Amino acid sequence: MEDKKAKIIAVLSVVALIIVIVLARVYLGLTKTFSLIAGADVAAIFAVIIYVIIRQRFNRRRMLLERQMVSEGRELRIEYSFLRKVAGVPTKFQFKELAEATDDFRLLLGQGASACVFKGVLTDGTNVAVKRIEGEEHGEKEFKSEVAAIASVQHVNLVRLIGYCRVPLGPRYLVYEFIKNGSLDHWIFPKRESQNRPGGCLSWHLRYRVAIDVAKALSYLHHDCRSRILHLDVKPENILLDENHRAIVADFGLSKLMGRDESRVVTTIRGTKGYLAPEWLLGHGISEKSDIYSYGMVLLELIGGRRNVRLIGNCNDKSKKKWEYFPKIVNMKVREGKLMEVVDHRLIDGGGIDEREVRRLVFVALWCIQEKARLRPSMARVVEMLEGRADIDDPPDTQMIIVDLLSIDEEPEDDGHERPNGIALAARHVDSTLPSTSTCSYAISVLSGR
Ligand SMILES: Nc1ncnc2c1ncn2[C@@H]1O[C@H](COP(=O)(O)OP(=O)(O)OP(=O)(O)O)[C@@H](O)[C@H]1O
Ligand SMILES: [Mg+2]
Repeated sequence: MEDKKAKIIAVLSVVALIIVIVLARVYLGLTKTFSLIAGADVAAIFAVIIYVIIRQRFNRRRMLLERQMVSEGRELRIEYSFLRKVAGVPTKFQFKELAEATDDFRLLLGQGASACVFKGVLTDGTNVAVKRIEGEEHGEKEFKSEVAAIASVQHVNLVRLIGYCRVPLGPRYLVYEFIKNGSLDHWIFPKRESQNRPGGCLSWHLRYRVAIDVAKALSYLHHDCRSRILHLDVKPENILLDENHRAIVADFGLSKLMGRDESRVVTTIRGTKGYLAPEWLLGHGISEKSDIYSYGMVLLELIGGRRNVRLIGNCNDKSKKKWEYFPKIVNMKVREGKLMEVVDHRLIDGGGIDEREVRRLVFVALWCIQEKARLRPSMARVVEMLEGRADIDDPPDTQMIIVDLLSIDEEPEDDGHERPNGIALAARHVDSTLPSTSTCSYAISVLSGR
């Protein structure tokens, strides 16, 4: 617009100057005064033309530079977003974007204690799992820094956090990469009719590889991160399988995102499911050894293809109900030298199981679930043992006092399966009797600096 105005003014000025020359010629004739006026006018006309030319050239150059800068800026932006992705910087999503990606939270992948997970597709085509966490409101800054801490932790066997979203006074959202084959529970426990999720019976070979993958992920969290991270929720539901059935551990660092009360709730629930280390129940505080205990429990379920705690006998007759504790059975079978009897029967029928691998896996599991935390091996040591780089001694006989707590009571679970409630009661009891500092030490030890 500016340019057009300048051009009009220039043309009008030239026309006016020419008119002045013509009028001077008519009224003054070929006098000296006319020559002076005509000379000055011609000079002015030249000046105007030169100004227009220079301005045009300058404008053309400026436009060229501007175009160049825009394309460079776009390239920079692309490069920057690529670098952000590679470096694991989480993207802040608008709620609208997540609602569009998940088609208004239509496809539910699964539901946990405090969150629902939905399938989604981002505008760039990336498949994602959107976790909606209900509950306690956190400060924006705190939430962001915790999300950044989770996103900065990167390992091939840990699920990648892509972004987050926080609705004021509403739920918080975490956007993860979508892992195609869902969680491990659907691949080791017999399938229930109502389930139409990916699942099946994982072969022995793949189970052994899953055991190593998970051990590597936990070893990384415990030993190789800048700040030590305790998972505190190791269980089959939090181990996902990719398209090649490699294990990807999910939900690490989440306890950092839970408030004081929520973390206590999570603890209780974990206990009822049988992955809770005894030191939790006894109020002795937690360390990475608690994760190792849970890992050992998962290993046993992986080997047996069954939950560690199972109801046996006539389900209708309350007096005949009995809880069967798989770790105790495994411990007994090992002492009797009947190792292969603990392996998932569906696998035994298929054959092709390496007995040395069974021995290694069972022994490592029994070392991991030792009630004395100091006897449990570190996750780094577990990796060495499973990969055959370290010898495994015979595990000591364990008392398994937990089993006594299990017989206290029982209640039906939301999935229709009954589970014992003893640990939950004990956990609740310990929780309420702990001094307030126990909760603090829990929070600190989850992500403690070295
Ligand atoms: N990134 C993902 N890709 C594919 N499926 C996922 C992903 N994350 C979670 N899921 C599915 O959603 C289910 C529910 O996850 P969620 O973490 O909410 O619950 P949970 O692990 O069962 O319990 P908790 O609340 O104690 O963590 C998982 O068990 C899994 O099947
Ligand atoms: Mg989970």
